[in-house]
Amino acid sequence: MNLETTYLGLPLKHPIIPGAGPLTGDLGSARRLEDCGAPCLIMNSLFEEQIVLEQRAAFAAIDEAENSYAEALSYLPEPEEYRLGPDDYLSRITHLKAAVDIPVIASVNGISPDGWSEYPKLIAAAGADALEVNLYHISADKYESSAEVEERLIESVRTAREGIDIPIAVKLPPFFTSIPHFVARLEKIGVQAIVLFNRFYQPDIDLEELRTEPTLRLSDSSELNLRLRWLAILHGRTELEMSLSGGVHTPTDVIKGLMAGATTVQTVSGLLQYGPEHLRTLVDGMTEWLGDHDYDHLDQLRGCMSHKNAPDPEAIERGNYAMVLHSWTAD
Ligand SMILES: Cc1cc2nc3c(=O)[nH]c(=O)nc-3n(C[C@H](O)[C@H](O)[C@H](O)COP(=O)(O)O)c2cc1C
Repeated sequence: MNLETTYLGLPLKHPIIPGAGPLTGDLGSARRLEDCGAPCLIMNSLFEEQIVLEQRAAFAAIDEAENSYAEALSYLPEPEEYRLGPDDYLSRITHLKAAVDIPVIASVNGISPDGWSEYPKLIAAAGADALEVNLYHISADKYESSAEVEERLIESVRTAREGIDIPIAVKLPPFFTSIPHFVARLEKIGVQAIVLFNRFYQPDIDLEELRTEPTLRLSDSSELNLRLRWLAILHGRTELEMSLSGGVHTPTDVIKGLMAGATTVQTVSGLLQYGPEHLRTLVDGMTEWLGDHDYDHLDQLRGCMSHKNAPDPEAIERGNYAMVLHSWTAD
């Protein structure tokens, strides 16, 4: 069975990648993931705030802010809660590269074009094989239009792109008015891949303490379908490679992702829940399923369930929406 896949210019022995999270930045668990067959690793992100923090001591200003809205600021992590500052992050890349024989993809999270212009270059110089730019952003400014937000995000990516020659993937949020339009803009500025999607952690409210509580709930397979839809729509409508992130827990989740058009699939919650060995379960389960269904290599099924040949995916989506609503029957 040939599972070989090229992603971000990296030849991978199979398409299932440990995504950005706590396991991939840690030397011990990164080695275990490699032992369990990881074809490469995507490190947890260096956040723009970490950089800004080091450069401008931004949180000191926040601490001095008026108490009247202190509750609303409770979602902000304390500086010491950030795991790695930028210098530590760069040396972690070097250590990871020395510790494992597989490619290491670094990750930055930023929103402002000038927030971290120099770090992608330093990340590339530290030896990262590729860079994932994680666009995690919630628009809360009523004076900034969606076009302006998109422009800022594109400028961020363009800034990251400038001056580095390692491949770039952009990890997207699912909330755009037109994902295909944004993806087409990314394609024009020299990005190699998109990751669909990052996952938004939704804060809860603690009524007694009057605090917002950022809840960290691991995903389950139900989160896959949003990704499948967009992979299916984009496959054949973009030249970019596509990596699925979100809801991959079983071998059948992997196969669905590939059939929808994913080049690679990433998994984080599954590995946190079941341990790095879960990677083997996914690869073995996928291989068995492919063998049982007479597939020899992944290109035979990649994108076979996409909307590539559908002239009007919008009509399909709308038709399915109406059909699903009308299919409800009370017991
Ligand atoms: C504890 C934890 C830490 C994470 N840290 C990062 C991060 O640093 N950068 C990033 O891009 N995504 C991060 N993610 C998001 C994952 O990479 C992934 O996109 C998301 O969890 C959906 O995939 P899953 O359903 O396989 O968990 C993190 C997820 C978890 C659960």
